Amino acid sequence: MIDPFSPFRLAGLSLCNRIIKTATFEGMSPGGCASEALIEHHRALAKGGVAMTTVAYCAVAPDGRTFRDQLHMRPELVPDLRALTAAVHAGGAAASLQLGHCGAFCNNHDLERRRPVGPSRALNLVGALSGRVLADAMTEGEIEEVTAAFVTAARLAREAGFDAVELHLGHGYLLSQFLSPGSNARRDRFGGSLENRARFPLSVVERVRAALPPEMPVLAKVNLRDGFRGGLELDESVQVARWLEARGADALVLSGGFVSRNPFYLFRGERPLRQMIAVEKSWAQKLALAVFGSALIRAYPFEPLYFLPLAREIRRAVRMPLVLLGGIKSRDDLDTAMREGFELAAMGRALIHDPGLIAKYAAGSARESGCVPCNQCVAEMDREGGVCCAKVPEQVAERAAHVHRARALNYNHEGRAGR
Ligand SMILES: Cc1cc2nc3c(=O)[nH]c(=O)nc-3n(C[C@H](O)[C@H](O)[C@H](O)COP(=O)(O)O)c2cc1C
Repeated sequence: MIDPFSPFRLAGLSLCNRIIKTATFEGMSPGGCASEALIEHHRALAKGGVAMTTVAYCAVAPDGRTFRDQLHMRPELVPDLRALTAAVHAGGAAASLQLGHCGAFCNNHDLERRRPVGPSRALNLVGALSGRVLADAMTEGEIEEVTAAFVTAARLAREAGFDAVELHLGHGYLLSQFLSPGSNARRDRFGGSLENRARFPLSVVERVRAALPPEMPVLAKVNLRDGFRGGLELDESVQVARWLEARGADALVLSGGFVSRNPFYLFRGERPLRQMIAVEKSWAQKLALAVFGSALIRAYPFEPLYFLPLAREIRRAVRMPLVLLGGIKSRDDLDTAMREGFELAAMGRALIHDPGLIAKYAAGSARESGCVPCNQCVAEMDREGGVCCAKVPEQVAERAAHVHRARALNYNHEGRAGR
C-alpha cells in the first residue's frame, strides 16, 4: 500500500506527501484583500505538515463573489498574495488557489450588475431576502467574458507565486450551475444534453490549462452528485470526469452538494442552526432561518470518508490523479484513501481544528482528530476575524484578539490593518 507520507509528483509539482488542505473559506479577506490573519492561517497549515494548502474561494471577477468580503482576483491583489505564498513556501508546503464564480447564487450587495447571472433566469435562493431576488441568464458574450476572467485570474495566481490552481466546478457555484440539470434550463448549445451543459466548464478548464505552463497543476473540484432530486447524478459526473481528463485537468477533487439547495450534503454532521442565526447579519435572513431553517436545511449524518462509495466509480473510470475528500479525519482514514487507489487525500475541518495534525500523524504522536464535527466553523466562517474551531479555546481567543487588534489599528475594510 502507498504510504500517505510518501512524496507525489502532480504535473511538474513535487509534493512532500499525499495530503492537501482543501479550500475552506477563511473569512479573512476584508475588502477583498489578503489580510495578515489569512497569511498566518496558511503559514500554520504549511508548518503543520500538509503537502499543499488551498487558499479558498477567490472570485475571478468582482461579481463572482458570494459575499462582499471575499478575495477577487486583480493585479493589486498580487503583492499580498505573494506574501502569502512566500509564507507557505517557507513553511515547507505548496500553495494552491481556488478560483471560482458564484453565478446565480449570490448575497453580495456590491454587484456591478443589477442582478447576478447564471445559466438561466432563476430565483437567487441565497440573496432573495436581502433584495437580490432574481438572477438573469448569461449571454454567450458573458460566458466568454467569465471564461477569459478565469484565464486572467489563473495567470495572476501564477504571478503571485501559487504552485497550483483549483477551478471550482462543484457545490452549486457558476460552473456547477451549468453542469446541473437542476439549474441549467438553457435551450442553446450550453444547455440540454450533458455535452452542452459541460461545454462552458470544460472550456474554462481547457483554456486555463493552456494558459499555464504544463508543470503547474490545474485541479478541478467537482461534484459526484448534486445531492438533490433533478440535480447532477453519478452517471453524468463519471462522464464529466472522463472529459476533464481528456481536456488536461491534472487532478480532480471529488466532492458533492449544492450550497443553495442542500448546504449540509457536502459537510455532513451537525446542523448548527443556532449559530447560523446568531451570526447572520440580515434580520430578514435571521427570521427566515429561525422559522424555516430546520424544515429547509436538511441534516446529513457524518460518516468517515462519506464520499468514498461514489468516488470509487470515478476511480474506475479515469487514470488521472484523484483527490479523495469528505470526512477524512484519522490516520487510518488516510491509509484507506491510499488503499482505495486515490493518489491524494484532502482534509478540511480536521485541519481547522488542528492545523498541526499532519505533522503529529507523521511523527506517530497522534492517530485521531479531535474534530467532532459540530460544523460551528461552517456557521461562523464569515464572522469577523475569520474561521476558527469553536471547540479550541486558544483559537477563539486568537480570533477575538485579532478583531481587537484590527479595530485598534482603525481597520478600514481594506484588509490592511495588522500588516
Ligand atoms: C468553514 C468551511 C468553509 C468552506 N469553504 C469552502 C470553499 O470556500 N470552497 C470549497 O470548495 N469548499 C469549501 N468548504 C467545503 C470543504 O472544502 C470540504 O468539501 C468539506 O469541508 C468536507 O471536507 P472535510 O470533511 O474534510 O471537512 C468549506 C468547508 C468548511 C468547513
